[in-house]
Amino acid sequence: MIIAIDGTTASGKGTISKRLAAWYGLPHMDTGRLYRATAVAALKKGVALDDEDRLEKVAASLDLDDFDEAELRTAEAGKAASKVSALPKVRQALYELQRAFALQDGGALLDGRDIGTVIAPDADVKLWVDADVEQRGYRRWRELLGFGEDVSLEQVIQQLRERDQRDQNRKDAPATMAADAVLIDTTDLTIEAAVEKALAAVEAVL
Ligand code: C5P
Repeated sequence: MIIAIDGTTASGKGTISKRLAAWYGLPHMDTGRLYRATAVAALKKGVALDDEDRLEKVAASLDLDDFDEAELRTAEAGKAASKVSALPKVRQALYELQRAFALQDGGALLDGRDIGTVIAPDADVKLWVDADVEQRGYRRWRELLGFGEDVSLEQVIQQLRERDQRDQNRKDAPATMAADAVLIDTTDLTIEAAVEKALAAVEAVL
């Protein structure tokens, strides 16, 4: 069984993915980490975020063990990830890794932006997780405060709008809901309720 979970930033997609993977006993790949790690590695090496050829090499030689979770989760890493992920050679360099993960024996759950459309268009179940930008901004703002970042709620909402724009309008693999995906709108849901709704959606398709 392959479960593809895509959606917008701070929609609850990550938590839903972890919980569903645990529930079904499926290996889970958070594909946003690949783009975040590529961006963080590039920033560390001083590689410009639009230098496609060098970024392709950075992506192709990633070792995810080189990064700690906190450095991947900063607002700067997210923004930089959104920039490098718009480059076709970077996406191509990370494609095989994701595709092989999706096709492993016993199934897998992957979350990202293009799992249901590009990485695993043959997935058994596809979810698209979304929420109003204000609600997502509020969640992300609280998360960033927890990491000790000093940002205003307005700034965070503005950054999310920019990130949505960039992710949805890029030419290569834009973040978009697959025609056969089920929409999970988490705007007015607690995380528990969102997980239950996602689980019910998966059960309805299986
Ligand atoms: O989901 P997360 O916020 O960690 O993703 C960071 C960035 O990586 C996204 O804004 C998006 O630009 C990019 N991404 C992508 N394709 C994926 C996963 C993430 O382009 N499958």
